Amino acid sequence: MASQDRIQSPKGMRDLMDDDACYFEYIYDVVRKRFNQCGFKHIEFPIFEETRLFERSIGDTSDIVSKEMYTFESKSGKSFTLRPEGTASVCRSYLQKNMSQLPQPVELWYMGPFFRYERPQKGRYRQFYQVGAEILGESSPAIDAQLILLYANILRDLELLDHTELQLNSLGCKDCRGSYISELKRYYEGKDRSMCEDCISRREKNPMRLLDCKDEDCIILAEIAPKLPDNLCECCNDFHVELKKYLDELGIKYTENPSLVRGLDYYSKTVFEFWGSHKGAQNAIGGGGRYDGLLEILGGEPTPGIGFGMGVDRMILEMERLDISIPKREKVDIFVASLGDAAKLKTLTLINNLHEADVRCVGGVGKPTMKAQLKLADSLRVKYALLMGELEVKDNVVLVKDMERGSQEKVPMEEVVDFVLDKLKNS
Ligand code: HAM
Repeated sequence: MASQDRIQSPKGMRDLMDDDACYFEYIYDVVRKRFNQCGFKHIEFPIFEETRLFERSIGDTSDIVSKEMYTFESKSGKSFTLRPEGTASVCRSYLQKNMSQLPQPVELWYMGPFFRYERPQKGRYRQFYQVGAEILGESSPAIDAQLILLYANILRDLELLDHTELQLNSLGCKDCRGSYISELKRYYEGKDRSMCEDCISRREKNPMRLLDCKDEDCIILAEIAPKLPDNLCECCNDFHVELKKYLDELGIKYTENPSLVRGLDYYSKTVFEFWGSHKGAQNAIGGGGRYDGLLEILGGEPTPGIGFGMGVDRMILEMERLDISIPKREKVDIFVASLGDAAKLKTLTLINNLHEADVRCVGGVGKPTMKAQLKLADSLRVKYALLMGELEVKDNVVLVKDMERGSQEKVPMEEVVDFVLDKLKNS
């Protein structure tokens, strides 16, 4: 096959290996530990859901729903979409599984791939990974603070906290937002010449998004636009003030950002993002917020909720950029090499016995010569190679070769696992 015909991974989707995979596993180990510590339950939900779940929750006019969904029709004609985010699925599951009957709040976490048809660039992929957390069924600023603290603790574990900035805002509730949106529309009237095409259509469809457009002229307009925090109702304002008291008490630093509106329509009251230290479009390493109206939109009883999504790919990039070292993956200690049919027959059992004894070990069963096997053992830098040929099988022994010293000992087959364990313990 000519090299230009070779099949490549889809655009914006990549294979994660080597250092990336080590960071990936490390992040998952850290978050798993933190979520267990905080009593969160793990949830895995489908990779695709009915399209209307995302349309209703994220909002028809959002970029995600209007431009970025991977949508397809099933054989029965139903429309499905690859999950672009996790909150909608968790809420669907909460209702489907009647979780309101459980002690509240219900605290769930998840991790895995998500899909958005975006223009790929560094830090922005079409298949990306998120670790997410959702707390459903209770509304108190203390819950918001607790969730932000959990996020900050995970970033501290990963040595990222000192390199990030927490951006905080309140989007208020339906009541305070209604009058604010009219004021915002009024402000943007007659300013078409200073607005990008997208913003002109946003003014009608989704005016709050006017505030976080990245176009230079639109940024200037947004800076002097009326701000939502000045228009919050008393209840939303008290909630926000209380949250900030909790954050201050916990020593969590934040920057108040009245232009932080987030790209999903379900938010109310608290919204936040953690920004990485480098400036640029892809610097949000994660974000979240409160979505007190979402379960009702999906047909449930009014139920409060708050959550976050951490961008794993962006955290990896940030950790690589900052050269944050992580514990090395443990390497293989033992290599089992064999020559001849009778010896090869015994090899898999010996390897399996070593695995059962929790010894990190590989074998060279697919290689025809002893030389090729020892070359591989050398390149893996194992401590010991276990060698078996016809003669060793006949005598029921194994040769244990110390790869550093070059010395070797003959050990009875039944004793070899204990012998190796002993050697590794003392090495
Ligand atoms: P989001 O802000 O859309 O929120 O995504 C969360 C994080 O996922 C982003 O801050 C970013 O780090 C990462 N991310 C998003 N899109 C991409 C992409 N194309 N490539 C790489 N990374 C990406 C949500 O998804 C909400 N569900 C978060 C949430 C949970 N809110 C409440 N609960």
